[in-house]
Amino acid sequence: MQLTIDRILESMREGEEQSREALRFFVRGIVDGSVTRPQAAAWLAWAYSRGLTPAETAALTREMTDSGDVLTWPEGPELIDKHSTGGVGDKVSLVLAPVWAALGKRVPMISGRGLGHTGGTLDKLEAIPGFRTDLSEEELREVLASAGAFISGQTGEVAPADKVLYALRNETQTVPSTPLVCGSILSKKLAEGVHTLILDIKVGSGAFMKTLDKAQHQARTLVDTAIANGVDCTALITAMDRPLGRAVGNANEVREAIDCLKGGGPAELRELVLALARDPAAEATLDDGRALEAFQRMVEAQGGDPRVVDEPERLLGGGCTEHVVRADRTGRVTMLHALPVGRAAFDLGAGRLRAEDPVDFGVGVEILAPLGSEVKPGDALARVLHRDGHGLGNALESLNQAFVFDGPDEAFPLVIEEVTG
Ligand code: URA
Repeated sequence: MQLTIDRILESMREGEEQSREALRFFVRGIVDGSVTRPQAAAWLAWAYSRGLTPAETAALTREMTDSGDVLTWPEGPELIDKHSTGGVGDKVSLVLAPVWAALGKRVPMISGRGLGHTGGTLDKLEAIPGFRTDLSEEELREVLASAGAFISGQTGEVAPADKVLYALRNETQTVPSTPLVCGSILSKKLAEGVHTLILDIKVGSGAFMKTLDKAQHQARTLVDTAIANGVDCTALITAMDRPLGRAVGNANEVREAIDCLKGGGPAELRELVLALARDPAAEATLDDGRALEAFQRMVEAQGGDPRVVDEPERLLGGGCTEHVVRADRTGRVTMLHALPVGRAAFDLGAGRLRAEDPVDFGVGVEILAPLGSEVKPGDALARVLHRDGHGLGNALESLNQAFVFDGPDEAFPLVIEEVTG
């Protein structure tokens, strides 16, 4: 039977499994405009309410990937990348990409910007003077060949079907659908042309997925779909009930990442980087300077000032005023909610509401009393970096809500579980 959008919508309504051809017809139609927005919205609503089978999810993801440019690379060492579903203080990519590069792998990392309370890797890196995240495809190839890793924004037309669908999902309240989230995330990642994809699925108040069962379901769907599309994939479900590490912002997160690359930094950041690296040789690269060198090579190759590794205090941020938040009681920090900490950084100007808004690289929050700390009145809980008091009142209110003393020990373990094929 001739495929038409009417026939496809009718079969979606009747709950019939969609063929590869029907999914291709739909995806091509939303990109070339032959499927109208109301038709696409109806399709999304059916997909949202009845779900998609694993075969439909895999085919939809492939068609969304193939709706745009797919990078291809010369024969050579393993091509690997990591995707995180996003959180507060998540600077893992800044450390993990150089760790993998130091191990001889190739890391073509196309990353994104922050939105709302979650930061974006590109914003953080742009705190480094001169660092460019708008590399052309030719430049991406040069940087990957010379530095072993790049972290840059999208080039060309990556998964244009996702742009259309994501905007419509936002308008039709169909964002939180496991197969649609899967197609959206993976279509962009598969377009990088990697062999291996490691997923960091965050769960908790500061994450897109608030509950463990949702995160488990999403992780399973993502891993199975990536594998069905020929990419080796493992997911770790990790804690985002509290921020990762101590720094939340942009420039201060780069400083913390550099500390980690020098073998120091918060224990949780190092632990997560090594868990996601999935290579027993990774730890040595943090301790013997190889990962730091790889980071410096990547920074320089992307136009950034390589002296940032030796003089992070001078070259990152600056011009901000400090305000220290102090405890007014005795107690143990049993929870440090990620969401209000993310909101505090956002209110100070470290985040943005719309993709085109500017961010202030210098402002942010540094946690001085992390989970498990014992404090007494007057002890420092957090340092707030603000610019002329902008957003300070709201940030202090949020931080006040973030700290929980002497409650039940309910924090997630950092790495909750691993999902493999
Ligand atoms: N991130 C994405 O890229 N897509 C989604 O649908 C959700 C989160």
